[in-house]
Amino acid sequence: MNGAWSWYVIALTAINIIGLAWLLLATASSKPVNDKPVGETMGHVWDGDLEELNNPLPRWWLGLFILTFIFALGYLVFYPGLGNVAGTLGWTSQKQVQSELDATHAKLESLYAGFRGKPLAALAADPAATKVGRNVFANNCAACHGSDARGAKGYPNLVDGDWLYGGAPDTVLASIMNGRHGLMPPMGATLPGDGVDEVANYALSLSGLAHDNRLAAAGKGKFETICAACHGVDGKGNQALGAPNLTDDIWLHGDANLEGIKRKILYGVSGVMPAWGPILGEDRARLAAAWVLSQGKAAAESEREFEEAEHGHEEKEKE
Ligand code: HEC
Ligand code: HEC
Repeated sequence: MNGAWSWYVIALTAINIIGLAWLLLATASSKPVNDKPVGETMGHVWDGDLEELNNPLPRWWLGLFILTFIFALGYLVFYPGLGNVAGTLGWTSQKQVQSELDATHAKLESLYAGFRGKPLAALAADPAATKVGRNVFANNCAACHGSDARGAKGYPNLVDGDWLYGGAPDTVLASIMNGRHGLMPPMGATLPGDGVDEVANYALSLSGLAHDNRLAAAGKGKFETICAACHGVDGKGNQALGAPNLTDDIWLHGDANLEGIKRKILYGVSGVMPAWGPILGEDRARLAAAWVLSQGKAAAESEREFEEAEHGHEEKEKE
């Protein structure tokens, strides 16, 4: 507040207080009003029998009024209220917010300190750590990867054991801390004639999807010269580049059909994972990574149990 505004606020406050004091003194004692003696009717009647009498203010009400008045003066001495006058306690709302923030940070700091330095695999097995990690994930990651980390079109599933960049704990942490940018450039120009159709049919054949055999056979060589640089000669992908495995039935960008794959070759595809290191700091990023790893492990276990149950079922049927 600049000086003029400060004085303006001081004047407003002082005028209000003086006005209140005057009102209090003027109405405190009983005296005749307009020649009407104390205790007598003022001559106004409402609803037939509701009369106005010339009575002083009730004592309790007056007492309360005086108390609020004293409170106001005390407040202005101790706390900032008169323009730029700081108040003797030195309290400010900024200082209060800061001290509350400091207290929260200190509490979190001691929480994180307990997890610091422990290997990610140990954190993933520690329910106290995954509980915090789960919250970090829900607040920062779920918008893209889903609250169960199972992803969506363009946003990878983090619990299916299929990794664009690798699932080793430190690699997962690196993905989170530094972010990732997977980029497949548009490649129509390098595949003239039926090239795009041929390579797309070959790509379909890699994962056993319906395709045209003749076109796929013609596409094999082109795949090996153009696409293999990133997806590997066998099409199983390259985690150093984030190039997905094209031989499985997991399709990050959906549309696993001829048109969909042709479109990806013609126009390219890309995905950006923001770098969370600068936003979350290492402690929270590690806890999020631990939760992700724990979810992947749980998903793999339930998958195995399911398969064992299926297998047992088949065995029984054979008997
Ligand atoms: C704005 C959307 C977005 C948010 C938010 C986001 N991610 Fe991602 N994440 C992606 C995308 C997109 C990719 C895939 C990048 C690519 O295509 O190369 C990815 C990739 C990853 C990978 C690598 C997956 C693999 O298969 O190798 C991990 C691990 C990951 N994210 C974890 C997280 C965690 C943990 C958070 C929260 C701290 C998070 N992500 C928040 C979009 C997001
Ligand atoms: C420069 C490296 C590079 C080359 C060359 C390349 N790709 Fe890709 N491709 C990628 C990357 C990286 C992605 C994943 C993009 C992302 O992170 O979202 C991808 C994604 C794809 C996808 C989508 C996969 C999914 O799971 O949804 C298909 C299909 C594909 N590529 C086919 C091809 C074919 C066919 C060729 C050859 C014509 C080719 N790519 C050449 C890097 C490449």
